[in-house]
Amino acid sequence: MSNVQGEIIAASASNPNMQSYENWAGNFNWEDVEKQFSWYDTGKVNMAYEAIDRHAANGRGDKVALHYSDAERDESYTYDDMRRKTNQFANVLRKHGIQKGDRVFIFMPRTPELYFSFMGVLKVGAVVGPLFEAFMETAVKDRLEDSGAVAIVTTSTLLQRVKREELPQLKHVIVVGNDVQTGDGLIDFHAEMADAVEEADIEWLEREDGLIMHYTSGSTGKPKGVYHVQNAMIQQAYSGKIVLDLKEDDIYWCTGDPGWVTGTAYGIFSPWLNGVTNVVRGGRFSPQDWYGTIEKYKVTVWYSAPTAFRMLMSAGNDVIANFDLSSLRHVLSVGEPLNPEVVRWGMKAYNHRIHDTWWMTETGAHMICNYPAMPIKPGSMGRPVPGIEAAILDDRGNVLPPYRMGNLAIRTPWPAMMRKVWNNPAKYEEYFRFSGWYISGDSAYMDEEGYFWFQGRVDDVINTSGERVGPFDVESKLVEHPAVAEAGVIGKPDPIRGEIIKAFISLREGYTPSDELKAEIAQFVKQGLSAHSAPREIEFKDKLPKTRSGKIMRRVLKAWELSLPTGDLSTIED
Ligand code: WTA
Repeated sequence: MSNVQGEIIAASASNPNMQSYENWAGNFNWEDVEKQFSWYDTGKVNMAYEAIDRHAANGRGDKVALHYSDAERDESYTYDDMRRKTNQFANVLRKHGIQKGDRVFIFMPRTPELYFSFMGVLKVGAVVGPLFEAFMETAVKDRLEDSGAVAIVTTSTLLQRVKREELPQLKHVIVVGNDVQTGDGLIDFHAEMADAVEEADIEWLEREDGLIMHYTSGSTGKPKGVYHVQNAMIQQAYSGKIVLDLKEDDIYWCTGDPGWVTGTAYGIFSPWLNGVTNVVRGGRFSPQDWYGTIEKYKVTVWYSAPTAFRMLMSAGNDVIANFDLSSLRHVLSVGEPLNPEVVRWGMKAYNHRIHDTWWMTETGAHMICNYPAMPIKPGSMGRPVPGIEAAILDDRGNVLPPYRMGNLAIRTPWPAMMRKVWNNPAKYEEYFRFSGWYISGDSAYMDEEGYFWFQGRVDDVINTSGERVGPFDVESKLVEHPAVAEAGVIGKPDPIRGEIIKAFISLREGYTPSDELKAEIAQFVKQGLSAHSAPREIEFKDKLPKTRSGKIMRRVLKAWELSLPTGDLSTIED
């Protein structure tokens, strides 16, 4: 990321909230935020109630909560429709004995049924675990196994990727489809929804009871289950106001899939906690389709990601001219570094500042952002939002002065912080190794005005099109292929995707390098894990650089790739 110190785009003076936000920031207090929730008075907590039923009960019953469309469907649901649909699904779950604390996973593409199921799971007090529809067998199995999920909601198409015979604790599989075969734990979603009554009791919870688990990648080991609790709603609601700038009449579109934390925290919780109309577009990305969605629904607040903006930029401005995008008021980005040239392009193409936001699966909500009330510096992630303190620490935990690069850290605690890594307390502790701080794994520096500038990951985690991919996960899959002896995986810089996955592979005896073999190996990863985990580039090597203890040295692979000096090789094998 190039650092364009000195380039500043002023905050929009026409934003009437600008002044009040800065005042709020000055006397910030989480308790003031808590007062907007019903539980502040009643003591009874449930995210689904605060996000859906509360609005239906308080004059927003006929307001559209969800606009959904894809190539075949075009449907809208009011807050009261959502209340009834989620009650029905809660009743389906209760009928099968699913209760508070159970883990229930959702594995399907974005459709209204995903959103009914998701909120229905929360209504019975269970913990929801969303999975990308792109996940293949192994990825699905690892997550269901680790979490001990008792039920999964999926579609007839994806059902074959759920290896029930290998998952003894998985008792119920609820299938969305036509002519679903039932019995032996298989449940027909549509049939049971049709039979379920539209009223249901909400399971009241404590603020520290479970809400959601997102599996995410680190540099070693299998993906980890990042566990969040109900209390996260405090921050998800508040950042909807202060960062997303949501107001009563907004039509809000977050392009993230619920398999990713952005698609839940800011694709479900935040907009619905704020009672706005939420847009979901199914199907794949295309510039026409995306601009058409903004035009169709008159989207006012649009939250997307750098890879998407780069693809839209490369699609050119002619396509923009065919659509009316004048409804847009506020545009935001998350997930990867937002290039200054994309921000400059956005000013010309949309006449809007694209506001970068930084946060992580583990943080549960926005941390460092360009919120509407502040001038933005293209290339900077922004400043900590009110209520959040960030700093750059050295490797011993000392706070560094401005312009010194180091570990990006957040002062603990904050309301939406993860509460555990499922089954893995040691992993959880690693994040908090310096007392009073959460260590993000990103490196950054801060300038003298308190703006933070992303520099990279401290570890080997790859960020490809905004998806976090653990190299170890891909390497483990690669060595399962009969031709692969050893594999080392790195992120290689890419102008559109940020990074792509590149694998260095040494072959077993008897296999000869060929393009067919490369394609077959890439396909093998795609089939086993997911399309976004498959290497886009493969290079065969006779030998891979390893430490004496046999660990593949990814930094040497990366140096080879980028034609950089390989650095200290004292621990290399030979
Ligand atoms: C990266 C996404 C630069 C970062 C909500 C972080 C970013 C990881 C930005 C978390 C940004 C996220 N600029 N890098 N604005 N936002 N990242 O858990 O490396 O999928 O640690 O959460 O994405 O990815 P995750």
